[in-house]
Amino acid sequence: MLGWFLAGRRWLASRMAAAPGPAQPTVRGRAGRARTHAGTGSTARSEPATLAGQRQCKHEAVSREGGGPDPNGLRIEYPDSGLTEDQLADTWLEQFRSWFADAVNAGIPEPNAVVLATVGTDSMPAARLVLMKSFDESGIVVFTNGYSAKGQELAANPFAALVFPWHSMHRQVRMSGPVEVVDEAASDAYFAGRPYGARIAARVSRQSQVIAARSDLERDWVAQARAYPEGGDVPRPPGWQGYRVRPESVEFWSGRQNRLHDRLRFRRTEDGWVTERLAP
Ligand SMILES: Cc1cc2nc3c(=O)[nH]c(=O)nc-3n(C[C@H](O)[C@H](O)[C@H](O)COP(=O)(O)O)c2cc1C
Repeated sequence: MLGWFLAGRRWLASRMAAAPGPAQPTVRGRAGRARTHAGTGSTARSEPATLAGQRQCKHEAVSREGGGPDPNGLRIEYPDSGLTEDQLADTWLEQFRSWFADAVNAGIPEPNAVVLATVGTDSMPAARLVLMKSFDESGIVVFTNGYSAKGQELAANPFAALVFPWHSMHRQVRMSGPVEVVDEAASDAYFAGRPYGARIAARVSRQSQVIAARSDLERDWVAQARAYPEGGDVPRPPGWQGYRVRPESVEFWSGRQNRLHDRLRFRRTEDGWVTERLAP
């Protein structure tokens, strides 16, 4: 047991030494002082939440006889890092920027992957991962095919919910609000910056449609690649575009001990943004 613990500490120490960039983004608080968003949030020497968390976590996988791991046996005790009111930034954007930087610096794979939930005319919710490509005070921008299932759902009901699942850091960010299509120039600019193969694929894939075989896709890819050789212009296909989710509610969730997690929410009201604490 002690051997495991010491080996774990050594591994974490080497990870921390190798971690690129500043491990501790800071934000400016209401009182104007700089402070950290990690662990205790109190000193410049404290660790990023992810590493401090892993150090204290118990992860018990219990195998069922012949049935593989039992999900009920997978149990993590969260560290007591959390997010308190005095650590919370003044705006959702500032707080999001800080946590997104933490997620990038912690090495989370595809930290910009976000669950996008939509509801179409059939009232059936649908959720899938997409990639956030930019964000600012006006919202979160993702790109997809407007003829896809999600595109049609957004056309019928232009509202969405987002979840950033940074659970290896014991964090989650949830947002919801109306959705708008970004302007053509922004979609053109983003499309032009995609790798060649991805631009061709966007022209080929009738996203969300049932297709007969993978070979159809590959055949069409080759045909489009012949029509638009590498190095030349690849036109953005109709309907392939950016969507901006304009959050009206942004919740920052941070896991804490005994499941007494922190949930701090920014919510837009007629009088401006309010912040409130939610029961876990
Ligand atoms: C990590 C990850 C990132 C993805 N990013 C995108 C994306 O940015 N845009 C997109 O249209 N689909 C993306 N996808 C695929 C979607 O999850 C989904 O399969 C596809 O958009 C079709 O969804 P729909 O049928 O609900 O419209 C991604 C999938 C994964 C796993």
